[in-house]
Order: sequence, then structure tokens, then C-alpha cells
Amino acid sequence: MSELNKIALKIICNGKGILAADESNGTMTKRLEAVSVASTPENRLLFREMLFSSEAMKDCIGGVILYDETIKQTSSSGKSIPDLISSVGSVAGIKVDTGAKDLANSSEEKITEGLDGLRERLKKYYELGARFTKWRSVYIINKKFPSKLSINSNAHALARYAALVQENGMVPIVEPEVLMDGDHDAELCLIKTSEVIKKCFEELVLNKVDLSGIILKPNMILAGNKSKNKISNEEVSQKTIECLKKSVPSEVPGIAFLSGGQSDIEATENLNLINKNNNTNFIMTYSYGRALQQSALKIWSKNTKDIKATQNTFNHRAKMCTLAAQGKWSIELENK
Ligand code: 13P
Repeated sequence: MSELNKIALKIICNGKGILAADESNGTMTKRLEAVSVASTPENRLLFREMLFSSEAMKDCIGGVILYDETIKQTSSSGKSIPDLISSVGSVAGIKVDTGAKDLANSSEEKITEGLDGLRERLKKYYELGARFTKWRSVYIINKKFPSKLSINSNAHALARYAALVQENGMVPIVEPEVLMDGDHDAELCLIKTSEVIKKCFEELVLNKVDLSGIILKPNMILAGNKSKNKISNEEVSQKTIECLKKSVPSEVPGIAFLSGGQSDIEATENLNLINKNNNTNFIMTYSYGRALQQSALKIWSKNTKDIKATQNTFNHRAKMCTLAAQGKWSIELENK
């Protein structure tokens, strides 16, 4: 087993999943201001440190994706944030892309940037304690999009990123996200997501990336958020498995879904059904941002001194997601 494969498995084995706490300062400011909390470096750290020192970290959270600001911050106990995370057996990760910018000659679409100087930045992040990384590409969807240009350019960037990350001893999370915005049906999402993922693997192979040392972070197959043809959770799970079975090479150890704007329960229930119906060898788990943090953030904003209530809320979500990652979740357990 390669070192990279071992790290990947440590992050996603035994129902463990990933806490995506890598919101950029811009996004985190939107999230905090939406619940009337000032977005200062201290408040951003306060909220995140509460999560990283909560009880669910040990059994549920195999890895935490950090943002550049957070990985350099020191916790109240004096430990660095990566040390705080690894002290409970979890793995610290870091978002390394520098964001999605307008794609030239297809300005409705985005290209993710961050390759310039990446090798040097990766070395610094490794020294700070990161052992895995994330790069997210985003794709709009309708009959016309994503275009070949966006699919090819983003796949190329993702593969060059992944090769550099492995060169530096870390596991790349490869995240091609087909957005849920729009009135498209689930069938179109299936077709476009499959095309996007297949192209990513074509480029990953071309760039000689060790597929046993990556984690794929895709969207689930859903109808658009404005679609009149919503499908059942059972259908979501079947279509998602169908897509991944056809598009992902078998060497890949695991798949960690993004929540992408699904409600907490929806993201949990869909993951649970995916695992119940999973007839592949892939580990299927979560790498949720909003679906793990949003409820805790709401509780915290009511009383920022109430650490216990905030952590209890996060613990519950993390436990529910970890049950779902093993196909053991139920609405009864959810409401208990
Ligand atoms: P969501 O689960 O909120 O979609 O965030 C996951 C993520 O890391 C997006 O890049």
C-alpha cells in the first residue's frame, strides 16, 4: 500500500468523513454576517476551533479542510490548528486553489486558478502539517453548458494540481462540482457529470497521477434546484452510483460527496441510500461544508458564549453523517 493510499484511507475509512471548513474569508464573511456575527479573524477562529475540539472529531471526522488563514492560526490551548486536529487522530488538509475566475471566451463559465507558484506553496503547507489538499472546479449546467472548453480546461488544471500535490507527499482531493442551480432534470445532471468526471480521469492518467492516492469529491446526481421534475432520494442514490460506476477507475479508494446546497437531512439521507445501494468497491462518504456546519453556526449565533450547545449540534450532524456513510442512518436516529 502506498503512503498516499494509507493517508486517503485514514481520512475516509470506517464511516469517517471530511469537514470542509475551508471557506475563503469572503465566503465565511457571508456565512457569519447572515447570522449577525462580525467576521473577524478571531471570530472565524473561535467558531472553527469549537468544531475542531468537539467530541465527534475522534470517531467521525477523518480529515478537516482548512483555509490559508486557519492553518496558520494558534488554538486557545497554544497548539497550532493542524496539531489540534491531528491530536484526535484526524488529518489536516488545505484548500490550495485560488478561486474560480471567468473563463476567457466563455465568460458565463469559470476556470479555477492557482497553479502558479503552487509547488512552493505546497511545501509550506506540508511543513505546517497538511497531509491532503483540495482544488474545486465549478461547472454551470443546462443544455449548452458545461462547454467542452470548460470541461477540458478545468480537468487539465485539476490534473496538474493533483500531480504537484502527490509530488509533495499529500493526497489531492479532486473536486469537480456540477452546480445544482437551474431547471435541468436529473438525467441531464447524470450525463454532464459523467462527462466532466471522465475527462478529469483522462487528464489525471495523462499526468501520471497515482489514482490510489486521491479522493474524488463530486456532486450527487440531482435535478436542478428550480426543476419541476424532482426525483426521489432513492433515485438520487441510484443515479449517483450509476454515474460513478461508469466514470471512476477502480483504483480510486474513495468518494467523498459535497453537499452543494442540499439541506442537512437531504444530504444525510441521500448519502445513507448511496451506501445502502452501493454495489461498487468505492468507499462513499461525505466532505460537507454547509450540511455539517450550518446548524451549529445558527445555534452559536444565538449565544456566542454557548460552546456546549454549538458543539452538541455539530456532534449530532457529524454522527448522523457517519451513520449515513455506513448505510446505518434512519429518521428515528436523526430525531432521537
Ligand atoms: P458544501 O458541502 O457546502 O457544498 O461545501 C463543500 C465544499 O468543500 C465545496 O468546495
